[in-house]
Parts: sequence; structure tokens; C-alpha cells
Amino acid sequence: MNKKINKKEIIILAIDTSCDDTSVAVLKNRIVLSSVVSSQVELHQKWGGVVPDIARRAHQENIEKVYLEALKRAKIKEIDIDFFAVTYGPGLAIALEIGIDFAKNLATSNKKPLIPVNHMEGHLLSSLLLNKNGQGKIKINEEEKLFPALGLLISGNHSEIVYAKKIGDYKILGETLDDAAGEAFDKVARMLNLGYPGGPIVSSLADKAKKDWNNPQRAWEEKRNKRPVSEIAGSFGLPIPMMRSGDFNFSFSGLKTACLYKIKELREKHKKDTVWSYNFAREFINAISRSLSHKLIKVIAKHPEVKSVFVGGGVSNNKYIIREIGNIVRKLNKNYFIADKKFRSDNAAMIGIAAYYNISNKKNQLKADKILELDRKPMLRF
Ligand code: KG4
Ligand code: ZN
Repeated sequence: MNKKINKKEIIILAIDTSCDDTSVAVLKNRIVLSSVVSSQVELHQKWGGVVPDIARRAHQENIEKVYLEALKRAKIKEIDIDFFAVTYGPGLAIALEIGIDFAKNLATSNKKPLIPVNHMEGHLLSSLLLNKNGQGKIKINEEEKLFPALGLLISGNHSEIVYAKKIGDYKILGETLDDAAGEAFDKVARMLNLGYPGGPIVSSLADKAKKDWNNPQRAWEEKRNKRPVSEIAGSFGLPIPMMRSGDFNFSFSGLKTACLYKIKELREKHKKDTVWSYNFAREFINAISRSLSHKLIKVIAKHPEVKSVFVGGGVSNNKYIIREIGNIVRKLNKNYFIADKKFRSDNAAMIGIAAYYNISNKKNQLKADKILELDRKPMLRF
């Protein structure tokens, strides 16, 4: 190990196998020394989504390799690690298990504590990671000034707005009642026969949209829609979900069904010509984006004491969505934070940063026999 590493600094090795990425990262406090992600996208692509059994097997085959690579890139040895950390939920049960068992073995054989981490806390805190030079969006010891804060967490399985009174003190204010935003992207991509994962594919389709895609008036005038124009996402009349729900929750399954019918209609009308799909993709993204931003504005109005908004999760890779959210948050004079691109989708560095704050707050440290009792929690909530 680099002898210069001051022992007041802690070295954390973090593992995430909650879905279809096998990830291991090494952190020195908030600094990412290495972050290795072995993606399984190619294995799941032909099935159009994540197949749990395949994910489990791939995690099993890869985890040791990914672990050794993370140590190598961080230039540290196993003996230098002070804490091990692992995602214990939410996620796919049989996938979580692989990371948990691996972490338990490491922690017990090295006689070091194990920190069980909530995957969603990882997404929430991912903006706090620092690069190798100790640089990042939030300087050391400046975290406290940023709270209370909101987390807008948008991933493949979750869409939620979390109130963080401070780091480690969380409450869900709103969440999806059915599909998550990422799931809606994946399903619409499947309807369009475009493969998996849907988010990046639908997003690049939207890049080709014409300037006049955004014309809800046109859809309204065609009288296919009984909704007011303010609840229509564009020319095709896709609905902006949950505009009048009166709460902070989301729901994307109605939008998904509207997409299904509209795609069928457009296919019949245009036969082999698929040019319509560019505007369609852009309108679909707008429906999601407007729904997310509408609820975020409502939450901020109810909680004016909030100082910052942290955005995390795979869907925050979407430039259209984060542009809208970022503009709104800044206009409301709140600090706006989003993770670096490489930490938006699943990764273990975010598990490391959540572990770092758990350690700092003296929370959730498992030692000795307690380590062996740790179990996966596929439905874990804040
Ligand atoms: O956070 P994440 O990597 O894994 C979970 O914890 O679920 O999120 C994965 C989700 C997928 O549904 C994927 O389609 C979506 O993030 N995603 C995107 C984009 N990139 C990934 N959604 C919209 N636009 C993108 N550019
Ligand atoms: Zn995730």
C-alpha cells in the first residue's frame, strides 16, 4: 500500500450485486481509488430484460475477478482494508446473495467490520464522491450546510422523492405506485423492438426528433384527448401522469399503456416508415420528465426549508430529464447535485460513500458473529 496513506483515513471496499452489474470499488474516505463494474447487459439483451438466474450465475463467475481488479487499480492489498461494505437491498434476492456472501467471507477472514448498505442510499449520496485528486462537487466538511435536502431517485426499479433531514435520516415523501421510470423506458423500448436497456436507446431516438414535436395543442384539437393541454406531453397526446393526484407519488403504468396503443396505431398508419418514432420517443421522455418535475416542485413548495436536491439513479443519465430538473431546481434557488456520469448507473463506489457516512455516524457496523447473521432484503426501504 501507498505508505503515505494516513491511518486516520479509512479504506473501504464496497460491493454491489443488486441487479445486473457486478461492481466493486475501493474508497479512501470519500475518494474513489477504484471503481470496477462488470456489466451483464449482453447476457440479458436477448431476453429483453434482466433474468435473475442468469444474473446470479454471472455474478458468481465474475465477482472474484472484479474484486482483484478493484484492488489492483486502487493499488492496495486486502490487508489494508479497514471496512467492507455491501448492498443488502433492495434488489434481486438471488443476485444480492452473491455479493453478501462474498463480503461476509472477506470481513470475517480479515476480522474487519462489515457495513450493510441500502442501494438507494448509495444512489442518493453518489454526488458526494470525490475523484482521485480529492476533487468533487461538494468539498470536505461542506456536506452539512446542504441539508435538509431532497433526493430524486430514478432507477430501473425505483422512482422516489426522499426527504433527507441530514445524511442518515431519511423519509420517503413520494414513490411510484406501479412501474419505475426506468422500467417504463425499458418497456417502451421493447414495444418499439429496440432492445434492452431501453433508456439509452429511447434517448438516442429522441435526439432525432423534429423541432415541432412539442405540440400538445395539436393532439387536443384532434379530440383524441379529453385532457387539458397542460396534461398532454406532445403532438401524439401521451398523458403526463399523476398531474392531479394531489400527492407526491408517481405512476408510469398508464403512460406505458397509452404508449402501447399509440405505437400500434402509428405502426398501422405508417407501415414500414418509422420516422414517427423519433418524435414519439421525445414526447415519451417529456411525459416522464414533466411528471417528475411537477412532483418535485410540489414537494419543494411544501418544504421550503430544503436547501438542495440530489438526483441519482440510472434514469438520471437522461439529458432531457436532468436538463429540466436542473433548471427547475436552480430557478427555485436550491443547490442542485447530480453524480458524475460514471456513478449514475449502478456502481459500488456509491455503496462505498454510503458506507463512509454510516461509519462516520457510527451506524450499521456489523462485527464478528453479527456479520454472519446479515441477510438480503430484496424489498428494503428507507
Ligand atoms: O440505477 P440503475 O442503473 O439500476 C437500478 O438500480 O435499477 O438504473 C437502470 C435504469 C434502466 O431502466 C435504464 O433503462 C435506465 O436506468 N437508464 C436510462 C438511461 N440510461 C439508463 N433511462 C433514461 N435515459 C437514459 N439515458
Ligand atoms: Zn440502482
